[in-house]
Amino acid sequence: MMTKTADAPDKVQIITSGNPDLDARMGGGLPVGSMVLIEGTSGAGKSVLSQQIIWGALQDGHTVTLFTSENTVKSLIPQMASIDLDVLDFLLLGKLRVYPVELARLGSDAPGLLVQAMRTQGGRGMIVIDSFTSALAKEATDLQLRSFFEESKRLCAAGTTILITLHSGAVPSDLMNPIRSMCDAHLTLRSEQDGQKLVKTLEVSKIRGAASGTGSIVGFDVEPGWGIRVVPISKARG
Ligand SMILES: Nc1ncnc2c1ncn2[C@@H]1O[C@H](COP(=O)(O)OP(=O)(O)O)[C@@H](O)[C@H]1O
Ligand SMILES: [Mg+2]
Repeated sequence: MMTKTADAPDKVQIITSGNPDLDARMGGGLPVGSMVLIEGTSGAGKSVLSQQIIWGALQDGHTVTLFTSENTVKSLIPQMASIDLDVLDFLLLGKLRVYPVELARLGSDAPGLLVQAMRTQGGRGMIVIDSFTSALAKEATDLQLRSFFEESKRLCAAGTTILITLHSGAVPSDLMNPIRSMCDAHLTLRSEQDGQKLVKTLEVSKIRGAASGTGSIVGFDVEPGWGIRVVPISKARG
């Protein structure tokens, strides 16, 4: 769903996830044309969070293209339905395009080929890559990675919002920092110990141009039939 920030003179358009608790923690939503990095460990919620944002964008009338190494078209629809995100109609209407990609098979060519494929989707409202980790062959060079993010930024400048998920630790930290700073928004997902139980957390590390401040950490659960539910986390955690 789209809202406009009340006080911004240029009426920044915002893409929301359609989950009000989550949007509140994300400073209202993701400014249109942002390059968004969702970083997290395995099972931390990168795919679920991107699915929630895809749904929110579609609800608002944006077109979305998903390049996925995680799902087929056939597996994505029931996966999203299992967390109450029904996108079948959007798929049938072409508002949502889903391209399963076997990035891992492309070796060091993966980032370059992916950016070429993204360019063909340049007119779309949103492009999602879940997960970019599989495009990171061992032999991928710093230059290839940087140019991938630079080319992506060009698409953002033309008005497309780009969301990229990445497994923490897949990229050496000396390269991760420049990538993080190139992104307009950076969300970090973790699975961490909170007293006796393991909780998922979302840290809004950065959202450039958001209505309110960032830096907040929120706990959440993925509930069957419901989706992302923001939950309190104990103050005891460090
Ligand atoms: N329908 C569902 N019901 C309950 N839990 C779910 C459902 N769909 C996903 N999950 C859970 O959400 C968590 C995050 O999954 P996912 O987003 O795929 O992680 P990542 O992409 O970061 O590896 C996992 O623990 C997964 O089991
Ligand atoms: Mg995933």
